[in-house]
Amino acid sequence: MKSFPPYRIQVVKEIPITTRAERAEALSAAAYNMFDVPAAKVTIDLLTDSGTGAVSAAQEAAAAAADRSYAGSDSYYRFRQVVDELTSYPHVFPVHQGRAAERVLFSTVLRAGQISLSNTHFDTTRANVELLGCEARDLPCAEARDLDSAEPFKGNIDLDTLEATLSGPDGQRVGQVLITITNNGGGGQPVSMANLHAVRELCQRYQVPFFLDAARFAENAWLVTEREPGYRHLSPREVAQQAFALADGCVASLKKDGISPMGAFIGLRDPDLAKRSEVNLIATEGFRTYGGMASHDLERVAQGLREVLEPDYLRSRAAETAHLAQLVNAAGVDIVQPAGIHALYLNAGRLLPHIPPSGFPGHALACQLYLEGGIRCAELGSLYLGTFDAEHNLLQPAPFELVRLAIPRRTYTLAHLEYVADVLADIAKNPERVPSYRVVHAPPLLRHFNLKLAQIPA
Ligand code: F0G
Repeated sequence: MKSFPPYRIQVVKEIPITTRAERAEALSAAAYNMFDVPAAKVTIDLLTDSGTGAVSAAQEAAAAAADRSYAGSDSYYRFRQVVDELTSYPHVFPVHQGRAAERVLFSTVLRAGQISLSNTHFDTTRANVELLGCEARDLPCAEARDLDSAEPFKGNIDLDTLEATLSGPDGQRVGQVLITITNNGGGGQPVSMANLHAVRELCQRYQVPFFLDAARFAENAWLVTEREPGYRHLSPREVAQQAFALADGCVASLKKDGISPMGAFIGLRDPDLAKRSEVNLIATEGFRTYGGMASHDLERVAQGLREVLEPDYLRSRAAETAHLAQLVNAAGVDIVQPAGIHALYLNAGRLLPHIPPSGFPGHALACQLYLEGGIRCAELGSLYLGTFDAEHNLLQPAPFELVRLAIPRRTYTLAHLEYVADVLADIAKNPERVPSYRVVHAPPLLRHFNLKLAQIPA
């Protein structure tokens, strides 16, 4: 039996339909930087699954009834109840978005010179570690290196390297271990419960705090129930509860699995850490019962966190991504296997062998998807992760040249996704015509948001 979304569409928003000439103009005006293309010129926006999901009638009803009191609003207590049912953290602070949670927590936990270990730090997470004068070190598992392998938990951290680091000369400098579920920087792959158990054991043995970056905790939980023996009989909620219970705390953007336009929270066990984080929070984000969130977003998040764990919802969302993965593979385009849930990661390096890393095949594919179909997505390759010299020439390429098609929650129908696959199939029929790119301007920090590029005709 086919799964289907457990909702129907009640409010819709028109999407822009553009001509190829308009798109070529918009892209060149944006200096080939997707972040500078106005959304009004984008037909299918797969740039991110963050803050872009459709809210439910129940979320909007709750938002309309939100209580705007500065301190101790009803909306805060409703939010707390939902988070308390899910996590066992005694200290919970709302924050306006994930990176603010990172800044507040990391600046309390880490001291300059320390190391943060992770399966993979997301880009803002890495930036928040590095801005404190610390090192963000990724230790992805060995299975992650083979993009084609169907290993079920390629989001795991490499436990041997983790233990070797904790017990070795750098061990004294490790300030935290942060596990990102699912592993967004690592192909959207899930982390197994066995891996989380082992991380907890190592962190306890070496007395290092263990936090989750739980932006996609529900999707990770779903994949655990699907792929990990011993968890199939549990509900996604039960798996998520167990995952939160293993860690000393978390940062969680709620723009993903909170299905909210805005929001995040910090969860903590340690009362001293909580006290110090709270001072930082109040000084920079807001009082502890709103922390920079509007009351209507506290309500949306509280309701969203309930809806996101519904098995029918997660089943249909996973099936939607799997359907797109099938179509993409049938079109002759390889993806990071096996497909996760929030995004597909296309292997652009393999699709466009005529473009060397210095011509940015991932970016070239992303631009082509826009030019030919009005589809916006993001490169995750040498443009994003490579190292450049002062003249913006590529010195060290990224290990893979990928493009992420992020799928907003409850937003596009299968027909939209089939259209995306059609456009991709057209490109894949004749990939040699895709031109390469060169960088003409690159700022030193958070480069990809502010790049300017030029096209080199094929
Ligand atoms: N952690 C992870 C794993 C993320 O994917 C993100 C955001 C954040 C933290 C930061 O959260 O946006 O609420 O400040 N990821 C988005 C993306 C932007 O497109 O993957 P935020």
